[in-house]
Amino acid sequence: MAQTDPTAHTVALGTWAWGDSGAVGDGYFGTALDESELQDVVDSAHRNGFTLWDTAAVYGMGRSESVLARTLAKYDRADYQLSTKFTPRIAGDGDDPVADMLAQSMERLNTDYIDLYWIHNRDDVARWTPHLIPLLESGRVRRVGVSNHDLEDLKLAQRILGDAGFRVDAVQNHYSLLYRASENAGILDYCAANDIQFYSYMVLEQGALTGRFTVENPMPAGSARADAYNPALAELTELTDTLAAIGARHDASAADVATAWAIAKGTTPIVGVTRPRYIDSLVRAVAVELADDEITEIERLAAATGVDTRGGWEQPV
Ligand SMILES: NC(=O)c1ccc[n+]([C@@H]2O[C@H](COP(=O)([O-])OP(=O)(O)OC[C@H]3O[C@@H](n4cnc5c(N)ncnc54)[C@H](OP(=O)(O)O)[C@@H]3O)[C@@H](O)[C@H]2O)c1
Repeated sequence: MAQTDPTAHTVALGTWAWGDSGAVGDGYFGTALDESELQDVVDSAHRNGFTLWDTAAVYGMGRSESVLARTLAKYDRADYQLSTKFTPRIAGDGDDPVADMLAQSMERLNTDYIDLYWIHNRDDVARWTPHLIPLLESGRVRRVGVSNHDLEDLKLAQRILGDAGFRVDAVQNHYSLLYRASENAGILDYCAANDIQFYSYMVLEQGALTGRFTVENPMPAGSARADAYNPALAELTELTDTLAAIGARHDASAADVATAWAIAKGTTPIVGVTRPRYIDSLVRAVAVELADDEITEIERLAAATGVDTRGGWEQPV
């Protein structure tokens, strides 16, 4: 039986890279994903009880949502949960750009409700947050969250929704061994104190923390992630070697340890799953219990890299 509460999952499945799939992807990841392989990803995920799918209208400008819907088509809607986003940057000029973008996402996702709907970026919180209220009232959206918001704007969104009898159910921010701004800014503590689920995105830093990419074998040339991470791969070697060594003690990989770390910090990682074997990795990651000294060691090495992985779309939190 699938876990129907989207805020009660241990991990969520990320599909930004799925926007790259097919002939006209956005090329951010530099990967050409095959839809039949993505079907295998979905099937393996569901066999293993991972059923919360994170996407956004902006991922491949609808392509991620469309591919996701096709690969989920054989499952009952009650057996998976959908998380998608309103992105202010691509808002239309109608009376209610949030409702319009949601309607387009629902059409692509072939559904009449979204389990978890997000304001994707911090952009005029007082303007965009109230648009979530009628969506919650109508049941088109079951829960809502804010992404890339700082603590002040999170509290503002909480006040706006609270005045209408609703709440911020979830926060989705960049959070990894290399990027702990939300922890340092008190957002993790605020979420824990207020029963708000914190979803950490990019816990693998788009593959840079998996050890799979090295100076000799960098990320695909010409992709945006290569531009972001390839210059830092040399600095990451000691960290990724240590993640692999710790992983070996737990019958796990470096990637599994990076994900297990995010779980140990009380967050729900959203992991970009592009290959069926990455679902096996999630099964292992959920089972890994890191010792305190292992956590201390990888946090120390991560800080020592001096690498800043804040995304171009993120404002400081
Ligand atoms: N709210 C926001 O602003 C925001 C921003 C970014 C991301 N997100 C969400 O968070 C999700 C995760 O972020 P992300 O996909 O950008 O990056 P990520 O999860 O840090 O990394 C995903 C990449 O890591 C590699 N990978 C995944 N599992 C692996 C494993 N077990 N072993 C080795 N390599 C592995 C894959 O690269 P290859 O395909 O090259 O193998 C995959 O594309 C997104 O898909 C999206 O849903 C949200």
